Amino acid sequence: TRPLKVALLGCGVVGSEVARIMTTHADDLAARIGAPVELAGVAVRRPDKVREGIDPALVTTDATALVKRGDLDIVVEVIGGIEPARTLITTAFEHGASVVSANKALLAQDGAALHAAAEEHGRDLYYEAAVAGAIPLIRPLRESLAGDKVNRVLGIVNGTTNFILDKMDTTGAGYQEALDEATALGYAEADPTADVEGFDAAAKAAILAGIAFHTRVRLDDVHREGMTEVTAGDFASAKEMGCTIKLLAICERAEDGASVTARVHPAMIPLSHPLASVRGAYNAVFVESDASGQLMFYGPGAGGAPTASAVLGDLVAVGRNRLGGTTGPGESAYAALPVSPMGEV
Ligand code: NDP
Ligand code: HSE
Repeated sequence: TRPLKVALLGCGVVGSEVARIMTTHADDLAARIGAPVELAGVAVRRPDKVREGIDPALVTTDATALVKRGDLDIVVEVIGGIEPARTLITTAFEHGASVVSANKALLAQDGAALHAAAEEHGRDLYYEAAVAGAIPLIRPLRESLAGDKVNRVLGIVNGTTNFILDKMDTTGAGYQEALDEATALGYAEADPTADVEGFDAAAKAAILAGIAFHTRVRLDDVHREGMTEVTAGDFASAKEMGCTIKLLAICERAEDGASVTARVHPAMIPLSHPLASVRGAYNAVFVESDASGQLMFYGPGAGGAPTASAVLGDLVAVGRNRLGGTTGPGESAYAALPVSPMGEV
């Protein structure tokens, strides 16, 4: 069988781990997909940076030329941000490749247009890594729960802020010290404002709500409040009440079923609640639906290797689809429910 050609756009915290696992697990990946996977090019900003395990001959700063090659099967976009990621993804579809992305900011803003572009060209757009790192959430919502009716998705979806809040609560660390540590560990976004001001969690809430409720939810639809105002004093008060503080994302279907709401804000959590014991950069998400009742998804929500695990899972799925001449589930059928930011609090 011919090898599947994969281009990697971005080789930072996530991309370098994707490349490493593609190399170290090459035989397993080939067996699971049914064809070997060949790294055909790696686009970066700084070509001279030493990148362990990457053949320098594959490295380019011309990501556009890479996605226009025309012989690529899969483009993995782990650059982040809106542009040039958006144009690179649509160009990849136009030139015959399917796309795996971890880019929640872009998907929350332009997911519908990107899905439409994928569909127009008969290609896949997968993005399990965009929400909650290694935790499978997109596929369970889109596939395993497709026959159920999801009413609520609630939880911790940002590792950086959970890391900071956990440190502040348990060690008394200061906000800036904890943020610096989260950044050094590769959890934070390129601009950590996205984490601490709740934009990243809001983007994830938009993606989750869209898939869970079969409607369109964009970042702007999500009520957003970050965690920069949370103080040591707030933790002391929470403790007196037998609580801790977590940044939550809450997506709900209205009781009459006529609208949905999505919001992100710090919340007091009783210490007896499972969310209170989510430590470090871990995430935990509850999904409530008519038939299944309550499901809990828990695990590493940020960091290079955990996120690469989700990217590689998508790579296997998309690779299988390519070999089978098919595509996976695209955007859900839309009920076009109106989104009201706050709903009933
Ligand atoms: P990094 O900043 O570590 O890596 C970004 C990579 O993109 C770098 O290799 C950089 O090149 C490259 N790059 C930037 N601009 C360009 C450009 N114009 N052309 C070509 N390459 C470019 O980010 P992360 O790996 O942390 O994040 C990547 C994506 O994954 C983002 O969408 C992020 O939201 C998402 N994500 C990240 C997680 C995490 O825990 N870090 C978890 C889940 C998702 P160079 O190396 O030369 O600087
Ligand atoms: N910055 C993000 C977080 C990365 O801390 O959760 C994972 O999406």
